[in-house]
Order: sequence, then structure tokens, then C-alpha cells
Amino acid sequence: MEKIKKAVIPAAGLGTRFLPITKNSPKEMLPLVDKPAIQYVVEEAVASGIDDLIIITGRGKRAIEDHFDKAFELEWVLKAKNDSAALEEIERISRLADIHYIRQKEPLGLGHAILCAKKHIGDDAFAVLLGDDIVFSDVPCTKQLIGQYEKSKASIIAVEHVPPDRIESYGVVKYSGAGTGDEHMYRVDDLVEKPKREEAPSDLGILGRYILTPEIFDCLEQTKPGVGDEIQLTDALRLLNNEQEIYAYEFYGKRYDLGNKLEWLKTTFDVALSRADFKEELLRHIKKAIEAIE
Ligand code: UTP
Repeated sequence: MEKIKKAVIPAAGLGTRFLPITKNSPKEMLPLVDKPAIQYVVEEAVASGIDDLIIITGRGKRAIEDHFDKAFELEWVLKAKNDSAALEEIERISRLADIHYIRQKEPLGLGHAILCAKKHIGDDAFAVLLGDDIVFSDVPCTKQLIGQYEKSKASIIAVEHVPPDRIESYGVVKYSGAGTGDEHMYRVDDLVEKPKREEAPSDLGILGRYILTPEIFDCLEQTKPGVGDEIQLTDALRLLNNEQEIYAYEFYGKRYDLGNKLEWLKTTFDVALSRADFKEELLRHIKKAIEAIE
């Protein structure tokens, strides 16, 4: 059976909602305590059985390449200090996967970023993981999608229920009952990028995990700039949906959108609270902060 072995991680966006830090630092390198967001994404792909990763980068994104590269000087210093735990972690990061980098010369949109990987992907279905979305789940989100792809052989989009006041910042699917035997799978009838609240066809919002069949590349090539004057993946998926079935899958797990500041703060907080080395002191600090306000 054809396996999903390749993934594209678009990380070339300008991150304008996160200025000024993103003026010269990639949004995808923002830390959750001590690990950059994109490392969670790479680890999810690897834990899903993917061993060939393409990260789409652009100007000002060199820190991503350096992060996954070997760091001789640092390794040398850690060896001299006998800090074997840190050394092991630093070496593990550089061995995580076979990572290739493709530059998107201009940030023309998510759809365009994926199109940049066309030659490397070839004729196989592949996964897409957005560099600023992370999902915490028992079974990695991408692995859940791959499981569904193996049954349906169709493109699959991860979705979640979105509250009405936030639907305008999502791509939204119009769906019908799936008939696949899995109540979390929906047959996609249509997709709309960032609809007005009253025009949203459902409350199922698209997040940054996809399995795409290679026919998406022809659709991306035909896609004209849409919302925000960018080449939108959602618009290319609409074209693909005219040719072949697409499914939406309501994944199991909790997703964080690191593209905006408040969500990033909340995520950092949750991650810190999940760590035994920070939990107690952090809770004490918060209690004091609340008392000071009251
Ligand atoms: P976003 O729209 O969330 O990212 O794109 P952005 O454009 O960087 O953010 P804002 O809106 O200006 O704050 C989703 C993903 O697609 C990538 C981004 O890096 C992000 O991971 N992307 C977006 C590209 O790789 N290239 C693009 O031209 C646009």
C-alpha cells in the first residue's frame, strides 16, 4: 500500500500578527518554554512515520535551518561540561529527520508555498503541517489523518468546531454526512476562506494539518490570488473537490494556533503547567498575581 512518507511544512509567512518580534525572527521559532514551535511540528511528522520533510522558508528564516542542523561548537562545550542530558537533546534534534529546505522567494500565500514543493513531492500523496499550529494528542494528529487516508485514498483536511465569534479567521467547510462509518469524517461539499460570520456554511474550521493527493499541484497552478491577495490553499482545494472527493476529519486532541499573541501566551502557560519543574512555582505566582488584582 502506498504510504505517506513526505511532508511539507510551510514556514515562509511574514507573521505580521506577531510584530515586532517577527521583524527579524521566524514566528515558527517562538518558544513554548524552551522548545520552538516548529520542533513540535517536526516531531509530530516523525512520530507519524514521515521521514522526508520539506520546510518552506524565506527571507529571515535561517534560524529554522540552524535549529535542525548539527551544532559542533555547542556539542563540544557540552561534552567538556559533562552535560550529557543537554548534549543528548541537542544531538537528537539534528538527527530528527531528513529535512530539505525550499525557499519561497516571495510570500505569495500558503497555496503558493506548497506549490514550491511540487518537484520534490512528485506523484505521491503527502502531508502538510503548518509551522505555527501545534496539536497535543495521544495519537499524533497527522498519524490520525494518515489512518483515514489509508481507508479513503482521498485528500483529508483536519477540522475542529470553532465558536461563532472566531469563524471569520478560518477556512470553513460545507459538509454532508460521510458514510465512511466514522462519525468524525465528513464529505466536503465546499470550502470558504474566512467567511463572514453569517455566511459561514458550518462551524467546522480548517486547521493546519492536511493529507493531499498530488493532483493538488495542478489545482494550485490554476489558482488565482484570493483573500488577502494571496494564493490560497482553500481555493485550490475547491478546484480539487470538483475532480475528486475530499474529506474533513475532526481530529482527537487539542490544537493551539501560535499565529496570534494571546493564543501563544496561553499555550506557553499550558505547556509550562504540564511540566513538573515549573508547575508548583508557576501556580503560586499566578495565585499571587490574582490576589494583587482583587
Ligand atoms: P499564516 O497566514 O498564519 O501566516 O499562514 P503568516 O502570513 O506568516 O501570518 P500573518 O497573518 O502575517 O500574521 C499559515 C502558514 O503558512 C505559511 C506561514 O509561515 C504559516 O506557517 N505561509 C504563509 C507561507 O509559508 N508562505 C506564505 O506566503 C504565507
